Amino acid sequence: MPPVIATVVRGVELRDRLDSERSRGHRIGFVPTMGSLHRGHAELIRTAAAHTDVVVVSVFVNPLQFGAGEDLDAYPRDPAGDRDVAEAAGAAVMFAPTEVEMYPHGREAVLTTVAVPRLAAVMEGASRPTHFAGVCTVVAKLWNLVGPCRAYFGEKDFQQLAILRRMAADLSFPVDVVGCPTVREPDGLALSSRNAYLSAEERAVAPVLHRALSLGAEAILAGTSDAGTVRRLMAETIDAAPLGRLDYVEVAHGDTLQPLTVATEDARLFGAVRFGRARLIDNVGVTPSSTDTDPGPRRP
Ligand code: PAJ
Repeated sequence: MPPVIATVVRGVELRDRLDSERSRGHRIGFVPTMGSLHRGHAELIRTAAAHTDVVVVSVFVNPLQFGAGEDLDAYPRDPAGDRDVAEAAGAAVMFAPTEVEMYPHGREAVLTTVAVPRLAAVMEGASRPTHFAGVCTVVAKLWNLVGPCRAYFGEKDFQQLAILRRMAADLSFPVDVVGCPTVREPDGLALSSRNAYLSAEERAVAPVLHRALSLGAEAILAGTSDAGTVRRLMAETIDAAPLGRLDYVEVAHGDTLQPLTVATEDARLFGAVRFGRARLIDNVGVTPSSTDTDPGPRRP
């Protein structure tokens, strides 16, 4: 029988437990989430469990990263399911703090925040201006509480991954940020907790986002170097499908995230589309093998 996962709600208890693991020489792997765990999250946990000794999964629907009028209250929650998925994937500890635990002075009274301006100004940041400061602030707090040597994030949220890598480097967090490939449904739709918002009709057309990005990648590989032409191709593909409302498509540099005028094989293609209540995002590299993933151990 594998050990039963421990659920911890208090930061001090988490620290004590993990201090004792560290004192025994155990390396801590960390997978932060907002819960409603699916196979994409499970894959991050499995990767973490393969390369570290104790895997901590946090589940916290972080109010700081939701803008006014966004889906904070509606965000799907499934504590019992989360526990089962995390345990089956190999997590040892689930950290499920309350809002008061994370923001003792109240979410409106948080004074210290972390911003990564240039990377956070484009794409998701342009559509959701306060989003990444909320993400960076909560991840900085979680890293301080957990003290992981490695933290695992999905390429599904590629801009978030790039921003957190930069935050770790700029603020000297002693953590390796590991990116893991996007887990998809057979028809290409990236798994997301927000897919639960899709009606049957919307679900049927939602793969058009991934299809459009893949067509953009194929066009670049076939020799289209004008990024504007690639953007138009992707936008027209999405506009031609019913029910979807295009937010943006972008051809951007994979590290700087800045828009490109000339598309190269280093480019990454990004998009966001609304289907009814659901706002879905996705991205692909130009070459199918292009991935930042390096889950192998770099430390003894
Ligand atoms: P959440 O959306 O729950 O995602 C948690 C982690 O799972 C992120 O690193 C995300 O990129 C990854 N993930 C989600 N869907 C995936 C998929 N289909 N394939 C691979 N990985 C996937 O991202 C957040 O939460 C929050 O912003 C958080 C970092 C926890 C801060 O609150």
